[in-house]
Amino acid sequence: SQAPPTNRGMGKKVLVVGSGGREHALCWKIAQSPEVSKVYCAPGNAGIAQAATCVEIPAEDVEGLVRFAHQEKIDLAVVGPELPLTLGLVDRLTEEGIKAFGPTKAAAELEGSKAFAKDLMREAGVPTADYQVFEDAAGALRYFREKEGKVAIKVSGLASGKGVILPQSIEEGVEAIDRIFTKREFGDAGTRVVIEEFLEGEELSLLALCDGTTALPLEGAQDHKALLDGDQGPNTGGMGAYCPAPILTPALLKQIDKDVLKPTLRTLKKMGRPFKGVLYAGLMITKDGPKVLEYNARFGDPECQPLLMRMDSDLVPLLEACADGILKGKKIDWKREAAVSVVMASKGYPGSYEKGKEITGLDQVAKEGVQVFHSGTKRSPEGKILTNGGRVLAVTALGLTLKDAVDRAYENVRRIQWEGAQYRTDIARKGLRRLKELETEAPLKRKTPVKKALLGLKSG
Ligand code: AMP
Ligand code: GLY
Repeated sequence: SQAPPTNRGMGKKVLVVGSGGREHALCWKIAQSPEVSKVYCAPGNAGIAQAATCVEIPAEDVEGLVRFAHQEKIDLAVVGPELPLTLGLVDRLTEEGIKAFGPTKAAAELEGSKAFAKDLMREAGVPTADYQVFEDAAGALRYFREKEGKVAIKVSGLASGKGVILPQSIEEGVEAIDRIFTKREFGDAGTRVVIEEFLEGEELSLLALCDGTTALPLEGAQDHKALLDGDQGPNTGGMGAYCPAPILTPALLKQIDKDVLKPTLRTLKKMGRPFKGVLYAGLMITKDGPKVLEYNARFGDPECQPLLMRMDSDLVPLLEACADGILKGKKIDWKREAAVSVVMASKGYPGSYEKGKEITGLDQVAKEGVQVFHSGTKRSPEGKILTNGGRVLAVTALGLTLKDAVDRAYENVRRIQWEGAQYRTDIARKGLRRLKELETEAPLKRKTPVKKALLGLKSG
């Protein structure tokens, strides 16, 4: 952890909006920028308070945030979560002459409406699962049975990662359609439903900084959406992530850039919704190539944590270049090390969980190459750090190899405790397996030197 930055006079003031591990990583990284003298976070959490000055304005209070940005003469606002983006926070800040990183409300519909995103992919020729959009149960049921239940059922609106159902049986699918349309369990988010073909393969999160025209991809990362080891149990917001992901070869990156990122940006621009901010493509790497599962209009959480830990470049000029539309020709430098982030969650998550448990051992965590990014934590009046959410924190470690990073992350996870803490013990295992395969491949067939491959680095 690091001390709040001191005011260096001419430095910039940055406001980060949000209160999760992603925003902690953003504040931590932004505070290291030589251009920045002050970082605010609204509303923040107990961990963010170590890297930024927290202000008690909810992330959805658009007018309150605009007022604060004026009052404090904020030079750059960085919006973390999807909700304020879909509420038009970036539009309002921009109208008021405040530079803001993130898409407009119109561009954020890419995440806010899965139906819109799928139609855009079709229009842009982006590879994705076959689908149909439904507004009533009868049509949905007919299509579901036609596909013999081998589908993903997705409510179109925002549902905090809980709006995707992968039915294991016909009964489960029928019940899901009933819950959405008849019981209206997802409210207005479930007014429209996307049903799409089930895709097999390995997932990859590819995030790109965008300025409306140009996409600058970050390193490939892999999330772990299921609660339990071996990708078992219910879906969560994400239980861990690592980067770089060895599944993303240079050839695959090129293909995704050409078939996904470029046509998406081109089509959005043509529609009068130029996309600035982070375009997050959630991909399934199938045997027929990459297909888009979903778009997000923001940094992934927890993908952001290992990505920013590995980023060597100053993030602030990159974020400004996105807002200013001058990203073309910019580059990002990455550290040599791999990074792994293991999420620790409250007992009961992603269902209902208890809050207010005392977290101990935070002071035992290694000081070098390890960061604990907080999501749901708060400080008690006596100065104790208490749990305050489902996902509580993410222990993020660098290592010379992916294996080293995994070991260091878990070594430090084991030092942190609270009653009922749960975490996955297999974060990055898919990446380790893929590296092992590369290592045992016949040397003549090998395109990437083993030492670099072990790190998951591209050759050259
Ligand atoms: P989404 O929010 O659309 O990314 O879906 C959440 C998770 O559900 C994804 O990360 C995948 O693990 C899974 N999923 C979504 N769509 C599909 C699909 N068409 N086929 C297989 N799995 C899917
Ligand atoms: N980790 C997945 C997400 O941020 O949506």
